[in-house]
Amino acid sequence: MVEGPRAATGRDDENIVWHSHAVTRTQRESSHGHQGLVIWFTGLSGSGKSTIAGLLEQALHQLGVRTYLLDGDNVRHGLCSDLGFSDQDRRENIRRVGEVAKLMVDAGLVVLTAFISPHRAEREMVRHMLDEGRFIEVFVDTPLAICEARDPKGLYKKARSGQLQNFTGIDAMYEVPERPEVHLDGKQLVTNLTEQLLDVLRRQAIIRS
Ligand code: ADX
Repeated sequence: MVEGPRAATGRDDENIVWHSHAVTRTQRESSHGHQGLVIWFTGLSGSGKSTIAGLLEQALHQLGVRTYLLDGDNVRHGLCSDLGFSDQDRRENIRRVGEVAKLMVDAGLVVLTAFISPHRAEREMVRHMLDEGRFIEVFVDTPLAICEARDPKGLYKKARSGQLQNFTGIDAMYEVPERPEVHLDGKQLVTNLTEQLLDVLRRQAIIRS
């Protein structure tokens, strides 16, 4: 029986055969001069994920690293525009993003993602889609009170007044990562946090300069 998101298609995987193409990830990585991997930012809305991911991408780009930034709010305008914020929709959101990120890693890119991704199970699902060492989970640990005080999009205010339901941190859960590769103190300046990440990438020889 076909299960999961494919079930509705009634499709049988026996009729879909994987085709290995001639140009490999290793070849693509060698022409880029670095490996492909995912830097997965997770944290509350307003924690600073997108800002830090954006600064890190700029720094990497200047170093000649081939990057792509997948951002929650942007992806929800296109690829995931049919999804809301129920647990089921968030799961599907992260599954799709994980699959896209996996393709981009196969293309040899350093993929930065900025999604709340509130559930451990989904973050682990994406980790397991990728080869060992190619998923760097970055927890942007910013207390709810600070995110709420920042409230850049006015959404916490709406959630508190009952105009917005299922809002992470208010009436929807956020499961704190247990063993993220990088744990950032979101109270620090975003420029410091970006430097910390660059140091991690240098120490792991993901970037050289
Ligand atoms: S996730 O939970 O599925 O990972 P995602 O990162 O794509 O969320 O989208 C989060 C962004 O959508 C937030 O930064 C916020 O701007 C907006 N948003 C709108 N409604 C909600 C909601 N109910 N909960 C969280 N974020 C919401």
